Amino acid sequence: MYANSTVPHSAQTGIHDRLGELLDRHLREPFRKPVLDYNRAAFTQSMAAWAACGSERPLILDTGCGTGASSIGLALRHPDSFVIGVDQSSDRLATVKGELPANLYLVRVDLVDYWRLLRDAQIRLARHYLLYPNPWPKIGHLSRRWHGHAVFPVLPVLGGIIECRSNWQIYVEEFAFALGRVLGREVPWGSFVADEPVSPFERKYRDSGQALYRCVVDLDEQ
Ligand SMILES: C[S@@+](CC[C@H](N)C(=O)[O-])C[C@H]1O[C@@H](n2cnc3c(N)ncnc32)[C@H](O)[C@@H]1O
Repeated sequence: MYANSTVPHSAQTGIHDRLGELLDRHLREPFRKPVLDYNRAAFTQSMAAWAACGSERPLILDTGCGTGASSIGLALRHPDSFVIGVDQSSDRLATVKGELPANLYLVRVDLVDYWRLLRDAQIRLARHYLLYPNPWPKIGHLSRRWHGHAVFPVLPVLGGIIECRSNWQIYVEEFAFALGRVLGREVPWGSFVADEPVSPFERKYRDSGQALYRCVVDLDEQ
């Protein structure tokens, strides 16, 4: 049955009590895992696609874009921008049918490397979407959530308006807490109603009657 998905079940009842300590460690100790050649090649191709469309166009990143449906929507809503949709799953990306908008490039790549390649190339984003990232709700899986991952301090450096959405309230609360800790200011989050769902997961959760949460912050604002 379609509209019967459930909210992630977790023994956690609020922000993970080790998140602050983990973030401080990630801020202190740079993440040095080597970038894989295949991710570097995919990065280069995506930058070439942006340049071919006009690198003066603001860049929008749709991270963990799955089937690319949200990336197509973003490209259509922002015709003057260039959208890169990133996912590690070739199966999901392969489900895209028909011609893509000219201002969109979909790429199979691991975000852990892709984000660092963007930072190293001093690329600045106009908008950055993290739509329904895998929640990893088990207490012991904190470091698999993006804000608990060693790559997290790279995200604020990329700039732009960053937006994270989830059907798990704690994920969004933690994301806002983590961004706030890095930025040194209060970062808001809250629930919202998805009248026009922007991605397949958003549609599925909305149609299952679930509450949805988001954190949106302009990283270029002081
Ligand atoms: C729950 S799905 C959400 C898909 C889409 N954003 C949506 O809202 O419909 C999470 C996606 O993140 C992708 N993902 C997870 N870890 C990733 C990584 N390290 N690099 C790239 N993609 C990743 C998965 O392959 C999956 O497609």
